[in-house]
Amino acid sequence: MRLLILGGTTEANALARQVVGWAELEPILSLAGRTQNPAESPIPFRTGGFGGVDGLKAYLTDNKIDVVVDATHPFAAQMSAHAADACRDLNLPLALFTRAAWRPVPGDRWFSVSDMSEAASALGIKARRVFLTVGGLQLAAFAAAPQHHYLVRTIDPPQAAAALSDHKLILARGPFSAEDEVALMRGARIEVLVTKNSGGKATAAKLAAARQLGIDVIMVERPKPEEVLAFEKLDDVMSWILGHRPAP
Ligand SMILES: NC(=O)c1ccc[n+]([C@@H]2O[C@H](COP(=O)([O-])OP(=O)(O)OC[C@H]3O[C@@H](n4cnc5c(N)ncnc54)[C@H](OP(=O)(O)O)[C@@H]3O)[C@@H](O)[C@H]2O)c1
Repeated sequence: MRLLILGGTTEANALARQVVGWAELEPILSLAGRTQNPAESPIPFRTGGFGGVDGLKAYLTDNKIDVVVDATHPFAAQMSAHAADACRDLNLPLALFTRAAWRPVPGDRWFSVSDMSEAASALGIKARRVFLTVGGLQLAAFAAAPQHHYLVRTIDPPQAAAALSDHKLILARGPFSAEDEVALMRGARIEVLVTKNSGGKATAAKLAAARQLGIDVIMVERPKPEEVLAFEKLDDVMSWILGHRPAP
């Protein structure tokens, strides 16, 4: 049975490791190709966009894919929408393998917004020292709020950072410890953290650090998910995949 895993996440990598060794599974991992040094894949992989819904449908047909798991990031809304459309049109089983959103706990000072431009406005008129951890692609939205100083952290050098007049860039890949996040934020005299509600453990320490330091958090909430079967546990998505094996 040929399984396509749409990846680019910790979840996709965990699933890729899990499917190794099942004789009846022929898995392939698909990456967008955004990260310069992606984690090594334990299964065959392909890189790059499919070319929209039609390109994805052609790929699924040409490669005789039987089952698709969308394990893309919760903010990769376009890829998820394309997967939902293509699988519906081709009548292929599709499941989402994702992580729960972060939820505030007592002591948190979160302000929820729905996109980056709302996040930039929510920083306010008065100049603040901002820790910006929203990835590299949407930094340009903060050019609309040039009064602030931005400490920008990304995995790869972002092209859009130049749009921010007053900024400092740190290149780093999680996981991060709460202790290190407190030291970083304290050292940079950070007053507000901006983050996407990505969920997961690898980058959650910044939230604990913000709580400890009494710092405001502008939380960019997730786009609405596709209405497809969703799993948050590796064992559950694995059972679902194995349940699609053809009868012997
Ligand atoms: N957005 C985030 O915050 C974030 C964070 C961490 C990791 N990622 C990962 O980075 C990748 C790109 O994210 P994005 O937000 O730019 O996605 P997106 O906006 O949903 O997708 C844009 C386009 O990139 C291509 N693409 C995305 N994921 C792909 C995959 N796994 N395999 C092949 N093509 C893919 C597709 O191109 P075509 O239309 O040509 O098929 C898609 O239409 C995803 O794999 C995602 O899991 C994203």
